[in-house]
Amino acid sequence: MMVLALVGLLVSACVGRPAEDATGEEIYLQLCSNCHGDDLEGGIGPPLGGGSFASTQPDEFLRVTIIEGRGRMPSFASSLDDPQLDRLISYIREVQHG
Ligand code: HEC
Repeated sequence: MMVLALVGLLVSACVGRPAEDATGEEIYLQLCSNCHGDDLEGGIGPPLGGGSFASTQPDEFLRVTIIEGRGRMPSFASSLDDPQLDRLISYIREVQHG
């Protein structure tokens, strides 16, 4: 039983992992757009685009939210390495600033 549970954990941890060299946009579309919308307009989660609360917050706020999760949003600590996280945040900033 333990082994099965472990395999299940490993599989679910891998499913959402973007390619090593995925762009910020690809990462966003793979991991975030289901809840925050293709254009950051919001959905299950709040909007993240221009004029949103998130757009007024420092990068550190995005980083901590993505790594630790918040409320109904899961943690992405096991899905993203640091360079991927940086590219994802840059992409969100690009969209916010039009
Ligand atoms: C399963 C749905 C879901 C996914 C997937 C998801 N989020 Fe969220 N996100 C939420 C919800 C719900 C909240 C609001 C949490 C709260 O404050 O209770 C949130 C909050 C946020 C916030 C804070 C915004 C604010 O106005 O407080 C940011 C930033 C954010 N998400 C970024 C992301 C990024 C980037 C990704 C992809 C790595 C992502 N989210 C994936 C559901 C999701």
